[in-house]
Amino acid sequence: MDSILITGGAGFIGSHLTRLFVTKYPKYKIVNLDALTYAGNLENLIDIEKLPNYTFVKGNITDLDLLRKLFDEYKFTGVLHCAAESHVDRSITDPLAFITTNVMGTATLLQVAKEFWKDNLNEKVFYHISTDEVYGSLGTTGFFTEKTSYDPRSPYSASKASSDHIVRAFYHTYKLPIKISNCSNNYGPYHFPEKLIPLCINNIINNKPLPIYGKGENVRDWLFVEDHARAIDVIFHNGKIGETYNIGGHNEWTNIALVKELCKQMDEKLGRSSGESEKLITYVTDRAGHDMRYAIDATKLKDELGWLPSLQFEEGISKTIDWYLSNTKWLNEITSGNYKNYYDEQYGI
Ligand code: NAD
Ligand code: TYD
Repeated sequence: MDSILITGGAGFIGSHLTRLFVTKYPKYKIVNLDALTYAGNLENLIDIEKLPNYTFVKGNITDLDLLRKLFDEYKFTGVLHCAAESHVDRSITDPLAFITTNVMGTATLLQVAKEFWKDNLNEKVFYHISTDEVYGSLGTTGFFTEKTSYDPRSPYSASKASSDHIVRAFYHTYKLPIKISNCSNNYGPYHFPEKLIPLCINNIINNKPLPIYGKGENVRDWLFVEDHARAIDVIFHNGKIGETYNIGGHNEWTNIALVKELCKQMDEKLGRSSGESEKLITYVTDRAGHDMRYAIDATKLKDELGWLPSLQFEEGISKTIDWYLSNTKWLNEITSGNYKNYYDEQYGI
């Protein structure tokens, strides 16, 4: 039986990935290691937590002794490394937390994988889940390919870029069997309501202002989170060792157009008159160093491994809104906790 360590499985993308692997591969033993920071929520996994091939361990990826104990106990053959500090605005307020988890945490995991796999690298995979933000910011044209030079500009993207480099260093130096993917912005169920889409859905429900940074002209390429999890599955099983794959949605939106689309769909679903939610749009001070545009060229993934996004955006966003409308308990529990203080500090509106 293969034994796979997923880090950060209680977070947004990690919970979808964990669900996919636990249900699709009953023969894999899946261990989810998560520190349960503000972003980790075990309710994200409530539907699979009792399955026999799933185990949760609360712990930190910077904890060398714990990692050694887990590698010794479970004899992992694969690692899917999702755990990270992931929100750009928080990285501007507290960069060291990002360097600790994203850089030191990744290096610690690599070190332990190297120790335990050193005599037998066959059939092992250390898969590092990363972001397109490492490539920096695009102008109005062009796309990020796997060959684009790194040019990270926020503490978050710089910490992820650093971790990508360290992962590659372990491949070149120690032949550790690594794979990396760099994905565009995800959206979907269980997305923590500090990120643009769930924050706006929650605020529309509650008739609160929709904060748009700057002029709302920044562009992001949005991918449904289950499509990201599917891509990781394909790359984990069929991608080449040592390679990097870009994953993207072929789906670029300016922030303001995206928020207007959310308002339109939510007016219909909530039975509000057309244009009502748009009145909540509030332009606020721009994010420091705000990257203008991200856009992924995912040709390599399509040509080599046959992966394509399965959902059109309008359908994906409709499914996402429906999920939040039917899971108000999940949303309320988050917004009534730690998130509330952070929200007030960040926006003060
Ligand atoms: P998230 O913030 O929702 O979840 C992160 C998870 O990691 C949480 O469960 C948290 O408790 C856990 N964690 C944080 N620090 C930890 C530590 N030191 N030890 C153990 N666990 C820890 O993040 P996400 O949006 O699901 O992102 C997951 C990964 O995907 C990250 O590596 C991120 O860089 C990458 N990524 C995210 C996006 C996106 O749009 N969200 C896009 C591309 C890539
Ligand atoms: P976000 O969801 O934080 O993802 P990322 O910064 O990783 O792309 O933000 C998406 C875009 O939305 C980004 O251009 C910043 C912008 N944004 C706002 O305009 N208002 C907000 O309140 C937030 C959180 C983001």
